[in-house]
Amino acid sequence: MKIRVLGSAAGGGFPQWNCNAPLSRAVREKRHGFLPRTQSSIAASADGENWAIFNSSPDILTQIAAAPDLQPRSGGPLRHTPIKTVVLTNADVDHIAGLLSLREREPFLLYATARVLKTLAENSIFQVLNPEVVERRELPLSGVTELEGPAGPIGLTVETFAVPGKVALFLEAEGEENFGTAAGDTIGIAIRQTAPNGTGKTLFYIPGCAAVDDPLRRRMDGGDCLMFDGTVYHDTEMADTGVGSKTGARMGHMAISGPGGSLEALRPVELGRRIYVHINNTNPILDPGSGAARTVREAGWEIGYDGMEITL
Ligand code: MLT
Ligand code: MN
Repeated sequence: MKIRVLGSAAGGGFPQWNCNAPLSRAVREKRHGFLPRTQSSIAASADGENWAIFNSSPDILTQIAAAPDLQPRSGGPLRHTPIKTVVLTNADVDHIAGLLSLREREPFLLYATARVLKTLAENSIFQVLNPEVVERRELPLSGVTELEGPAGPIGLTVETFAVPGKVALFLEAEGEENFGTAAGDTIGIAIRQTAPNGTGKTLFYIPGCAAVDDPLRRRMDGGDCLMFDGTVYHDTEMADTGVGSKTGARMGHMAISGPGGSLEALRPVELGRRIYVHINNTNPILDPGSGAARTVREAGWEIGYDGMEITL
């Protein structure tokens, strides 16, 4: 199974268009070690020919332009794409806005939970993906789904599971518990090559997660690779750096550091590799020379970057 990180940043990207804070300045000024990052998405393929995209970010056209595997094949039909399937983990803007760039009557299959499909159905702009061309399929809140493209199975199977999170920012209901969040607003995904040809290796992809509990730890234990929510390092870093007031917790993202943070919560879990993705532009791990970056590396984590490729 081939995996490519298309975008390793959280919503806003790195640098964020309107951000003048030191980290965004540093990457804009091309300071040594600071890598520009596009918004949150990965791609996976069992055969290198048929690809599934997990989340479709506003930067998808730039991401496709940087990935020859995702481009029309030389000598192929006049209109075609290796992208056969798109899978969504939630309805956040950084995960669905790229769907609008995948119009042009190109068939592919779109998978999401009932909650996320409802959001797409209720926002008529997504009708640019005519459901007669782009078939929408519901993912179970808990279960195994063999992914298909327009011509049938693409050799990947996903296991979906609900994780603690928050409803998309633009759907928040004030005054309701956890802003109206319901099961299916955020899922995690275990991605495997379909048996019998598959290697049995598992990639866990969880770009948004508010908390890790024992069942989630047990589920991930023994996984070959984890790509996990690296939005903020400190829960209060938006306020600490003066760019905003929301905490990571308020945004549905657990912090990396601190009690209950992902470093601590995932330390007991056996994993082949562990990689932070969905990294917010305030996160100090974006500075490879920072103490935070050193801390996560020393704890065995890698800091995801655009174009990172993995074979499982
Ligand atoms: C998030 O991950 O919290 C969202 O992508 C925030 C946003 O809508 O920009
Ligand atoms: Mn996001």
